[in-house]
Amino acid sequence: MNQVNRTNYIFPAIGMGLILSAIIFVVVLIPRWTFRPPQPKDLRNYTAQELRGRTVYTREGCFYCHSMVSRPQDWDNGTKSKASDYYYDEWHLLGSERSGPDLSQIGGKFPDEYHIQHHKQPRSLKPGSIMPNYEYLSDQDMTDLTAYMQSLGSNGRRALDPLTGQLKWGELVDAKGPTGEIEKVAVWKGGANFVADRERIASENYDQHLETPYKYTAEVEELLLGTSHEAQLSKGAVQAVATANFPTEEALREARVENPDLRAWSEVSYKEPDQIPTDLAGLAALQKRRTIANQGRGIYNQKCSSCHGLTGNGRGWASASMTKRAANFWEDKFENYRTDTWYWRIRRGVPGTQMPRWEFDLSPEQTLYLVAFQKYISQNKGLGALKGMDAPVYGLPPSSAKTSIQPSN
Ligand code: HEC
Ligand code: HEC
Repeated sequence: MNQVNRTNYIFPAIGMGLILSAIIFVVVLIPRWTFRPPQPKDLRNYTAQELRGRTVYTREGCFYCHSMVSRPQDWDNGTKSKASDYYYDEWHLLGSERSGPDLSQIGGKFPDEYHIQHHKQPRSLKPGSIMPNYEYLSDQDMTDLTAYMQSLGSNGRRALDPLTGQLKWGELVDAKGPTGEIEKVAVWKGGANFVADRERIASENYDQHLETPYKYTAEVEELLLGTSHEAQLSKGAVQAVATANFPTEEALREARVENPDLRAWSEVSYKEPDQIPTDLAGLAALQKRRTIANQGRGIYNQKCSSCHGLTGNGRGWASASMTKRAANFWEDKFENYRTDTWYWRIRRGVPGTQMPRWEFDLSPEQTLYLVAFQKYISQNKGLGALKGMDAPVYGLPPSSAKTSIQPSN
C-alpha cells in the first residue's frame, strides 16, 4: 500500500517539474537567447562612469523607492520612456514601486550640484522628503551616481540630439577613472543657460507629444474644437501679456542691469469694467485682454478643466474622487494673486496634492496665456464675457518665433 502511494507522488512531481522546466525554457530562456531587438537610432552607450553610477544605484537600493519607466499617463514627467532609454538595462530597473518620483526622465532636469546636495541631504532641499541621506557615499560614488542620474531620459546626457548628433546636455571628455585609466566622462555644460535650455527643450518635446492623456467629457471636447496649442503660441498675444517694452530677453536683461527689480510683465488687470468703454482705444484694449484670456482658456480646457472645472470653480469631473480637492479660483484670495505667483504655482505644482508640475508640459508662453485666463476667471468669478467666445485660430508660427520670455523670479 505504501509502495503504491510513493509512486503516486513521485511521478506527478517529476511530470510537473518537467512541465515547469519546459515553460521556463520556452517563455524565459529561448526569448533571452534569441530576442535581439534592433538598436534604437538615438542610442548612446553608457560611459564607464555612468555604468559605475548605475552600480551604486542598484547597490544602494534606490530602486526600492524609484521606478524607471515613464508611462503615457505620467504626464508631469515631460515625455514617455523610449527604447533607447533602457536598451542596455538587462537587469532592468523599470520597477513599479513609486515611493519617490519616477527617475527615468531625471537627466538634465537639475544641475549636478542639486543632485549631489539632494543625495546627501534630501530634506535640505525638499522638507518632509522620506528619502534617506546618502552622505556616507564616497566622493567617487557620489559623482558616478550623479553622472548616472544625468544620463537618464530623453533630455539626459546619454541622449543624442537627433538634429546635431551631439550630446544634448554634456560633452564627453577624457578623464582619469578611479583606477587611473583614461576614460570618457560626460561633463555638464548646462551652466548659466540651464534654465533657458531646459525651457527650450521642454517646449520642443512638447511639440512632439501633442497627444494628451486625458479623457475629455463631451462638453470639454466641444469647447476644444477650433483651438490648437500652436494657436496659443501666437507671438503677439504673449507680448501683450508680458510688457510690450521688452520684446526680447536681451532687451529685458539689459534693462535689468540698470534696474534689477524690473519685471518682464506688468500686472494687467483682467477685471471686466463696469461700463463698457465708448472710445475706440478703450474698446480695443478690452477686446485684446479678452482675446488673450480666451486663448489661455484653450489650454485650460484641455489641461486643467478636468480637475478645476470648466469655469474654474474647482468642480471638474475628476475632482470628485480627490482627497485634496482642486482649487476653486472663485475664492476671493485669488483675485489678488500676482502674475508670478500664478506663473510659478502652475509651473511647479502644489506638492502633496495632485496638482502637477506643468513646467515640463507647457512652454513659458503657454503658461502666460494660462495666467491671463486664471486672472480673468478669478477676477470676474467665472467666464464672464468669454462665455460663448470661440478661441481664435491663428496660422502655425514658425518655430523660430518660439523664443522664450523668461519670467523674473
Ligand atoms: C525611502 C525611499 C527612497 C529611497 C531609498 C531613495 N529615494 Fe530618492 N526620493 C524619494 C522621495 C520620496 C523623493 C521625493 C522628495 C524629494 O525630492 O526628496 C525622492 C526624490 C529623488 C530625486 C528627485 C526627483 C525629482 O523629480 O525631484 C532623485 C534624483 C532621487 N530621489 C534619487 C535617488 C537616488 C539616487 C537614490 C539612491 C541612492 C534614492 N533616490 C533613494 C524616496 C527615496
Ligand atoms: C489632477 C487634477 C489637477 C489638474 C489637472 C490641475 N490641477 Fe491645479 N490643483 C489641483 C489641486 C488638487 C490643487 C491644490 C488645491 C489646494 O492646495 O487646495 C491645485 C492647485 C492649483 C493652483 C494653486 C492654487 C493656490 O492655492 O495657490 C493653481 C494656480 C492651479 N492649480 C492651476 C492649475 C492649472 C493652470 C492647471 C492646468 C494647466 C491645473 N491647475 C491642473 C489639481 C489639479
